[in-house]
Amino acid sequence: MPSYFTSSPGKVILFGEHAVVYGKVATAGSLGLRSYCLIQSRTDKTVEVSLPDVQLARTWSISDIPRQDQWTGYPYPPPMNFELLDQLTKFVDLGTHTNRSQAAIALLYLHSYLTTDSTASQGYDFSVRANLPVGAGLGSSASYCVCVATALLQLNGHLSTGLDKETQRDLINQWAFQAEKVIHGNPSGIDNTVSTLGGAVMFKKGEKIEPMPGFQSLRFLLTNTRVPRETQVQVANVRKLREKYPNVVDPMLDSINEISTSCKQLFSQEGLDRSQLLTQFGELVDVNHGLLAALGVSHPALEKVREISSKLGLKSKLTGAGGGGCALTLIRDDVSPATVEVVKQLLEAEGFQCMETSVGGPG
Ligand code: PMV
Repeated sequence: MPSYFTSSPGKVILFGEHAVVYGKVATAGSLGLRSYCLIQSRTDKTVEVSLPDVQLARTWSISDIPRQDQWTGYPYPPPMNFELLDQLTKFVDLGTHTNRSQAAIALLYLHSYLTTDSTASQGYDFSVRANLPVGAGLGSSASYCVCVATALLQLNGHLSTGLDKETQRDLINQWAFQAEKVIHGNPSGIDNTVSTLGGAVMFKKGEKIEPMPGFQSLRFLLTNTRVPRETQVQVANVRKLREKYPNVVDPMLDSINEISTSCKQLFSQEGLDRSQLLTQFGELVDVNHGLLAALGVSHPALEKVREISSKLGLKSKLTGAGGGGCALTLIRDDVSPATVEVVKQLLEAEGFQCMETSVGGPG
């Protein structure tokens, strides 16, 4: 009986948050923290879904799940089907806005399209676990969507038809984006793209998301301050500041754009050794955080991370919307494990959650 195991990473914004809203370049990378999905065929006609991270455990008869006819653009997804979305919301019946119901609806949305005539009556067990915190700006939902899309595409034979790697990735990314739309309405597509491709990417509103050439995996201490933040509120605050002081704020956004492009140049610069690269990357981390703080999106908890890490010679910046959430601290290759441990203990003593992880690993 076929079974498939898939996994996909979360993401962090390295540089360019907020500026990206105004058409500037941002960079993001895949995290070492991932979602893991196991899908196993069953002999009966039951679909059993277990998502312990969002406390979901449900069983459905496969014949009850709405199924869509094959569409003309096969194997790529058709435009969003809001009728199906409504139907599934009623079918799942868990209320619309909880993580649990969104996760279940996204999964069934993909299932409805991806089952073929030969798999339409085949039951399966489906479970997903992640070591990514939910709602911390680390792309946990996109990572969920990518590993779910990959598993369902595999189970239904859509990835074993001689497609080359790039086409397979594109297919996974497009389906994962559909699932992200089910969860988030109108996402930018950056999170699922990073999760699918891995490595690091450059992105700019309205343009194709490009992998960053030459990107080398980096080590970070990721600190979740556990201070809740709302992306919309932070974005609105920057908007207000810019409306009031356009001549002050616009050059700051331009500078952030330059930080992203300098990052790209660092990784394609010939003759730059890794230690120089890491030193310069750390300088960009410092400057980008300073600009974000000046835009008003830092928080005392994020400044605490900066204060503690800088005492031990490390560079940190907020990542994502700010106002709380997470900070990234670069761990250069010459930083000893003992130093990392000290920083970690000091940060944990503040009530923060620390995770040592890489950025730039596989998708
Ligand atoms: O909080 P996150 O990780 O979802 O990041 C938000 C990034 C912003 O640039 C502030 C907003 C955006 O839509 O790009």
